[in-house]
Amino acid sequence: MYRSHNCGELNASNINTEVTLAGWVQKSRDKGFMNWVDLRDRYGITQLIFDESRTDKTVFELAKTLGREFVIQVKGTVIEREAKNKNIPTGEIEILVSELNILNTALTPPFTIEDETDGGEDIRMKYRYLDIRRNPVKNSLLFRHKVAMEVRKYLSDLDFCEVETPYLIKSTPEGARDFVVPSRMNEGQFYALPQSPQTFKQLLMVGGMDKYFQIVKCFRDEDLRADRQPEFTQIDCEMAFVEQEDILNVFEGLTRHLLKEIKGIEVDKFPRITYDYAMKTYGNDKPDIRFGMKFGELNEFAQHKEFPVFNSAELVVGIAVPGAGNYTRKEIDGLIDWVKRPQVGASGMVYVKCNEDGTYKSSVDKFYDQDDLTNWAKATEANPGDMIFVLSGPANKTRAQLSALRMELATRLGLRNPEEFAPLWVVDFPLLELDEESGRYHAMHHPFTSPKPEDMALLETEPGKVRANAYDMVLNGNEIGGGSIRIHDKATQQLMFKYLGFTEEEAKAQFGFLMDAFQFGAPPHGGLAFGLDRLVAILGGQETIRDFIAFPKNNSGRDVMIDAPAAIDDAQLKELHIKIDAV
Ligand code: AMO
Repeated sequence: MYRSHNCGELNASNINTEVTLAGWVQKSRDKGFMNWVDLRDRYGITQLIFDESRTDKTVFELAKTLGREFVIQVKGTVIEREAKNKNIPTGEIEILVSELNILNTALTPPFTIEDETDGGEDIRMKYRYLDIRRNPVKNSLLFRHKVAMEVRKYLSDLDFCEVETPYLIKSTPEGARDFVVPSRMNEGQFYALPQSPQTFKQLLMVGGMDKYFQIVKCFRDEDLRADRQPEFTQIDCEMAFVEQEDILNVFEGLTRHLLKEIKGIEVDKFPRITYDYAMKTYGNDKPDIRFGMKFGELNEFAQHKEFPVFNSAELVVGIAVPGAGNYTRKEIDGLIDWVKRPQVGASGMVYVKCNEDGTYKSSVDKFYDQDDLTNWAKATEANPGDMIFVLSGPANKTRAQLSALRMELATRLGLRNPEEFAPLWVVDFPLLELDEESGRYHAMHHPFTSPKPEDMALLETEPGKVRANAYDMVLNGNEIGGGSIRIHDKATQQLMFKYLGFTEEEAKAQFGFLMDAFQFGAPPHGGLAFGLDRLVAILGGQETIRDFIAFPKNNSGRDVMIDAPAAIDDAQLKELHIKIDAV
């Protein structure tokens, strides 16, 4: 038996008990005649004491050789500590050690393995197994486990069945590039790793599984961001014989359950807003609604005056920033520079100070009088003491720019409290999205999404206006899940591929299996997938998902610990029928 107890569980009630503990040496304090060692494992830290007058001489001497992160086993007696530490559960006791067994030595770790570490991101990633010994990382993994368990429990109780689907498949179009795997046995052919199990879960519905879920790895070769990893995990779900309303209710229920069980927070019914409303009001299809600063469109009040910039703009739009009326000239200029950075791309910004006495002072006083500015204040719901910032230009671009400013100001003003949770549904997404470069439409969600029946007629005439039975769940400004009601008949699916620019042959070659299945009694079905990494990170009060993944990739998509991706040897390449041309 390596241990009788773990390092987090002994307290005053165990005094005088003989125990065996095992763990890592966090640190030792050698006072000559007395040596204290903090012994750490996953569960906590227990203090060991080696005392010249009470400890066997060889054990006492051996203890002096212990270095940081040595793995040891000790036997001893639980005794009351003289200097108690109220901050940790084991702080009232220590172990008077009688036997010490060094199970393994350790090199000096390249960074301190404590909550606050001196190790930078790169070094911690290279030695991720050491990083995992630290509380912040370890606790994030335990937290993730807890969320995953609650998800499994909730869905299983509702009769959802977890089914595994294959990883070696053919391309599924979720909008990113595929990771591909060469086939040794089929020369010149490749599997693709799933961007999601989308087609398989639909086939499970055709197979009559009725309610499916899977906590599943997905792979997307896309640029990395704080909320994106090339391999990430979905809580993937699908249901048969459902309408959009059923799905929204079930998965709102799941999210509410998680918020209650994990965070102890009860939330009301989730607000639902349409995609159009989200774009007009927040400039964004994943709005953070923990705070206001809704967009006010000002075309009506700002155009047809003498200000040429606004007159020629497709959209003039502003937000009222609470309490920002006293910003200094320097602060305002700083913000103007901020929106002019290439990442945001505005060409300039107009501001209006809303004075406490109800008057206004703007950067465009030359063109607008107090009545005009009063209208601007009304449209942006500004109060005395606020500052209105106004951008103008092409509608979509300007909305995106103002949305970036809205989020930045909210962060600066401390309005994005990570312990406050504001979930919502965004519904009625457009079915198709115009790719400006190619001039072609592609599916905004994926090609299996059903158009709204009442919009079907528009497919021929105004495809961009067709709405889909598609929805996203948004939490604190992050898209944590998305899904749709699916097409379940061959004719509509074929039509959809046609609108997406597939020839009949291409559609058949890529998705013939699905359209075939639709001919064998496919039930109406729909579903959604949550991004587990994102959900866990946000519930954990953060937005960077990397901290909640045991072995994440860095920003260049590399695993710096195992040094992947890596070249493979010629023999392996040959076996896979791959020729790499020397450059
Ligand atoms: P979608 O592509 O919207 O839908 O993905 C679902 C959710 O997965 C998360 N997500 C990611 N998380 C981390 N890193 C990534 N690279 C990444 N990409 C996506 C997001 C997103 O909301 N098959 C459909 C679902 C369906 O229709 O049922 C799908 O995959 O939180």
